[in-house]
Amino acid sequence: MKETISVLIPEKKIIERTDEIATELSRKYAALRDGKPIVVIGVLKGSVMFMVDLIKRMSVPVELDFMVVSSYGDSTSSSGQLKIKKDLENSIQDKHVLLVEDIIDSGRTLQYLLKYLNDKHPASLTLCTLLDKPERREFDVKVDYVGFEIPDEFVIGYGLDYAQRYRNLPYIGVLSFEE
Ligand code: IMP
Ligand code: MG
Repeated sequence: MKETISVLIPEKKIIERTDEIATELSRKYAALRDGKPIVVIGVLKGSVMFMVDLIKRMSVPVELDFMVVSSYGDSTSSSGQLKIKKDLENSIQDKHVLLVEDIIDSGRTLQYLLKYLNDKHPASLTLCTLLDKPERREFDVKVDYVGFEIPDEFVIGYGLDYAQRYRNLPYIGVLSFEE
């Protein structure tokens, strides 16, 4: 089958929106004035490109950490169990945590991660995702910052993959398959 890509969100729009979110986040964290560290946690690998663009534009000092979460079995269904394949390197207790994701689909991954992180008693926990497919939501997740709400289509690029491909495209595209 032939794979076709059509541009959904061009790079310029992603950068503009990332700028806005980074400004809001910087303002929010700067206002806290409690001296507690801010740690930005990226969920590998999809969030990497967004995370880098976001933190470059934040004017408060941040620490970085990463997690890898994967589901057992069929990755296209929402029934599988989640498993942490790479855990945090440092404690997040009493730190301000900003969790950065590429996309929220069913919400299963983030519901799991938010509970996992909350149990470690951070000073605060904020969730920021580049993309959100609200139509697909099965698990209730409170998202603080959303880059773009998108329709229920399979997207790739800007960190997002199809079978590990297309992650380095500088835009978000819709992937479709033709005979
Ligand atoms: P959830 O647990 O169902 O919310 O799924 C979230 C994860 O599924 C994301 O972190 C992505 O890795 C993957 N995913 C969901 N939708 C897409 C898509 O349209 N393109 C690429 N990956 C996706
Ligand atoms: Mg992901």
